[in-house]
Amino acid sequence: MSPTSMSPIAGPKPSIILDCDPGHDDAIAIVVAARHTNLLGITTVAGNAPLSLTTRNALIMTDLLGLDTPVHSGAERPLVAPPRHAGYVHGASGLDGADLPDPSRPADSDHAIDFIIDTCRSTEGVWLVPIGPMTNIALALRAAPDLAHRIAGISLMGGGTFGNRTAAAEFNLWADPEAAAMVFEYGGPLIMSGLDVTHQFQATPPRIDAVRAVPGRLAELLADLLTFFSHTYTTRHDDMGGAAVHDPIAVMALTHPDLFTRVARHVVIETRGEHTRGMTLIDQRALIERHPPNCDVLTHVDDDAAFAVITEAIAAFSR
Ligand code: RIB
Ligand code: CA
Repeated sequence: MSPTSMSPIAGPKPSIILDCDPGHDDAIAIVVAARHTNLLGITTVAGNAPLSLTTRNALIMTDLLGLDTPVHSGAERPLVAPPRHAGYVHGASGLDGADLPDPSRPADSDHAIDFIIDTCRSTEGVWLVPIGPMTNIALALRAAPDLAHRIAGISLMGGGTFGNRTAAAEFNLWADPEAAAMVFEYGGPLIMSGLDVTHQFQATPPRIDAVRAVPGRLAELLADLLTFFSHTYTTRHDDMGGAAVHDPIAVMALTHPDLFTRVARHVVIETRGEHTRGMTLIDQRALIERHPPNCDVLTHVDDDAAFAVITEAIAAFSR
């Protein structure tokens, strides 16, 4: 029986391991996961920033939320691709824009892959929720193929019918296409929260104001972070009113499924294309020749309701 407990959402909380590269939207995903899931652990990966910084940022978030959730650092570079980061979006620290405290503790280990394997073998029904490059998940699946039929599934943020790091590829998959391909081929339940749905979920000024209106230091810091994050979006995109808050969508796909529309699709990752490396090729053909689905692709979010989930989660940790 998987460890669950009742939560504000209907039904038992899903047990998850959140694999992340904080990252402003990762930070918000940690808040939602802490509020609405049985958060077994946080594993960190290089992505938005180098591993030392994504790990530092995850630890800072556990401090701000008063969590004793274990934090294990993992891969400091992709399987094949060179390490590449996103300071142009998240700043040099990976979490620029707020006066954040130093972490109060070190990471529990630098063996995230072992933590993932051991936890999924000892605990039934664990969801893996990767919201950065999927290097840790791929390494765990390669080292322990039995995980494919032990875990409840994988709910990931990444991909889409368009890219952000290139015209074809979204950052998480672009950063480590080989890892992403292993995840999409693993054979178990898979939920993809790609740019098509996450760009519907923007931290507009009224929504940031709603966060800032929550009493307490946590809300003030998160509003500052969202303000910084949104500035890097609105100044770089022609048509966005705020940052796409990508990562909490992969968590809410599990905790608040009724907020989303999804379609079953066959998705493969391009790993060799000169112009398309890291692309999710989503088979949308209305033809009998289409490939059988391997993935639920989220296509729409009730963005007002979903942002209310975030604001309530922040308020819950601000009491
Ligand atoms: O492309 C958006 C994704 O890349 C998000 O997970 C963001 O945090 C970055 O990791
Ligand atoms: Ca991320």
